[in-house]
Amino acid sequence: MLSREEIVTTLEPLNGDFFLINDLVAYADKVLANGRSLVRREPSTGTLMAYVLYYDNQPEILITMVWTAPDHRRRGLARDLVAELLAGAVKPVHLEVHHANPAVTLYRKLGFRVVSRKGDILTMKREPDASGERPALS
Ligand SMILES: CC(C)(COP(=O)(O)OP(=O)(O)OC[C@H]1O[C@@H](n2cnc3c(N)ncnc32)[C@H](O)[C@@H]1OP(=O)(O)O)[C@@H](O)C(=O)NCCC(=O)NCCS
Repeated sequence: MLSREEIVTTLEPLNGDFFLINDLVAYADKVLANGRSLVRREPSTGTLMAYVLYYDNQPEILITMVWTAPDHRRRGLARDLVAELLAGAVKPVHLEVHHANPAVTLYRKLGFRVVSRKGDILTMKREPDASGERPALS
């Protein structure tokens, strides 16, 4: 499980770049009260490496945040965590993301498709039976 402090301190340095959360403490408290998380930590130290925050209390699951520690990026941690969520999901999963966020590539690879756009913000959705890009068989 994550703490409020972990959510706030990990998102604070990023806030205002590709997303803007007006009150990070309120954001953290809300997701801790009503949402769920998937978390990866260093087995030996417990240091936080990556997490996914989501809500599963509507007809569709909403991913509200995906985060990987800067020194653990590009090792597949976010991909594996989101894939774990998708593997257990029997509902559509959607999220909002800035069109220029590199995370868009991650979501596309996992089978999310853009369903609408409002200014810079894309809504992406992944249907339960959608598959992500797979390597071609040789
Ligand atoms: C987006 C984020 C969660 C990705 O985490 P990650 O653990 O590094 O991602 P992965 O290693 O699982 O990446 C899987 C694939 O996504 C794509 N991808 C991820 N980060 C990328 C980047 N910075 N540039 C281009 N493609 C990227 C790549 O296709 C990657 O596969 P590859 O490394 O084999 O090329 C991480 O960069 C992050 O925490 N960003 C800040 C928070 C944020 O903006 N979250 C999204 C909010 S909607």
